Amino acid sequence: MDKVKLEVKNISKSFSKAEDEKPLLVIEDLNFKVYDGEFLCIVGPSGCGKTTILRIIAGLQKADSGEILLDGEKTESPSTKKSMVFQEFALFPWRTVQKNVEFGLEYKGMPKEEREKMSKKYISMVGLEGYENSYPHQLSGGMKQRVAIARALANDPEFLLMDEPFGALDAQTRNILQEELLKIWTETKKTVIFITHNVDEAVYLGNRVLVLTKRPAKIKKEFKVALSRRRKRTNIEFVMLRKEILDELMEEISILSPQST
Ligand SMILES: Nc1ncnc2c1ncn2[C@@H]1O[C@H](COP(=O)(O)OP(=O)(O)O)[C@@H](O)[C@H]1O
Ligand SMILES: [Mg+2]
Repeated sequence: MDKVKLEVKNISKSFSKAEDEKPLLVIEDLNFKVYDGEFLCIVGPSGCGKTTILRIIAGLQKADSGEILLDGEKTESPSTKKSMVFQEFALFPWRTVQKNVEFGLEYKGMPKEEREKMSKKYISMVGLEGYENSYPHQLSGGMKQRVAIARALANDPEFLLMDEPFGALDAQTRNILQEELLKIWTETKKTVIFITHNVDEAVYLGNRVLVLTKRPAKIKKEFKVALSRRRKRTNIEFVMLRKEILDELMEEISILSPQST
């Protein structure tokens, strides 16, 4: 677990607003490492720059300064090593489940038969066997997000970049998908960066939890989650760690002024 897989080095990013206004500084000199095979959770107040960080890592957005190193090499553009799962399910409504999962494979030019084999494997891994020919509008939120996860996995990335993937789901569906995601993570040994604003979710899933400051995002504190993998939310260590992280986060939220959210 100690091999550094990805390194975020001195990343800064601002967005320009109207010409006469100062640009909005969203990320300031951000530094952290992600280890091979780990499940890293990042929590932070809303609007602090979480999505922006993930988009920069994915290569969907350019940083103003700093660099992202993947296996020690600078990476700036999207690659099949990194697959993103978004909060809003981001499926193609005109494609069936199977065709959604095959999207990246088609793009890569994989032959039809091989594509079908791969998509079936991942559709089954996320528990959607029998729904291959359904369209997104025929599925529940939880099922749509399963499709999005299968699509990300089908590219066989080394990294899963997940941006509050369960944020739009009800609590029960969210818990089920957390469980399934852990199973998939154990089976596939992907490195996961999982963004959430839900501390309970972060403690349940992560090997490590990074707490970000309010905007501009910096690392406020790092927590190692030294709990066994069969975690119980009612376990005293779980509850205590959750409180500790929540206290850090609340400090950031309470000092946000109403105009800055
Ligand atoms: N493309 C963009 N152009 C201008 N401002 C942006 C853009 N993307 C994000 N922002 C602003 O940057 C800040 C951080 O956004 P984001 O990374 O989405 O935060 P989070 O995911 O933590 O809620 C917000 O104030 C948002 O309005
Ligand atoms: Mg976001």
